[in-house]
Amino acid sequence: MVQANDPVVLMKQEVGRVAAARVQSDTVVGLGTGSTTAYAIEYIGQRLKNGDLKNVVGVPTSFQAEVLAKKYGIPLTNLDAIDKIDIAIDGADEVDPQKNLIKGGGAAHTREKIVDSLADLFIVVVDANKIVDRLGSTFLLPVEVIPMAVTPVMKKLESLGGKPELRMGMRKAGPVVTDQGNLVIDVKFDSIDNPSELESTINNIPGVLENGLFVGVADIILVGEIIDGKPNVREIS
Ligand code: 5RP
Repeated sequence: MVQANDPVVLMKQEVGRVAAARVQSDTVVGLGTGSTTAYAIEYIGQRLKNGDLKNVVGVPTSFQAEVLAKKYGIPLTNLDAIDKIDIAIDGADEVDPQKNLIKGGGAAHTREKIVDSLADLFIVVVDANKIVDRLGSTFLLPVEVIPMAVTPVMKKLESLGGKPELRMGMRKAGPVVTDQGNLVIDVKFDSIDNPSELESTINNIPGVLENGLFVGVADIILVGEIIDGKPNVREIS
């Protein structure tokens, strides 16, 4: 059960609140996926409800984001109906000093990369545990794959030096199935020296839809941290 005074929860809530405060009226907002962004979606909904924000529409990056937006009263749209996304708020699993990311802990990185890349301003919301010196040090790299191609893609990832494993569901028998009906391979690389090159190399494997390396996409990182027992938000821009 989530504890209200859990420091990680406090960091996520605070960073979500600060990100939601950056949203302005009359804008299109990319709504990310994950437990941190969930707080931002809740706070955007609160601001709409209390009249602090007007005329905001959201583009969800996942079924989770869609459900939360409906719960908190944020009207939704899609990429066919809009000319641009003004701001996107999304979480990450790792952030390096160049603001490159690993995403996909929630298996939503394909839609996240589409929406986040289209935004004029992409704000990443993380707790301090996500900051790393080098991508791949704490988190496996998620790769979304069309089901029929799982075996050849795994072999190819091995030949690139990775240790791939098919992501399995929790409280569901069998593999995780993405919102697009595909599978996710999580890959351990000993060292990701060139994230940009690896991103392209993996996406060039036939059967790969998208991988979780986000290189040069993030504009601002909001980092939730605890200082003297209190939640604080640090901005990296
Ligand atoms: C989903 C993601 C999430 O943004 C990422 O996993 C971070 O999630 P959380 O805020 O729950 O730690 O990339 O695909």
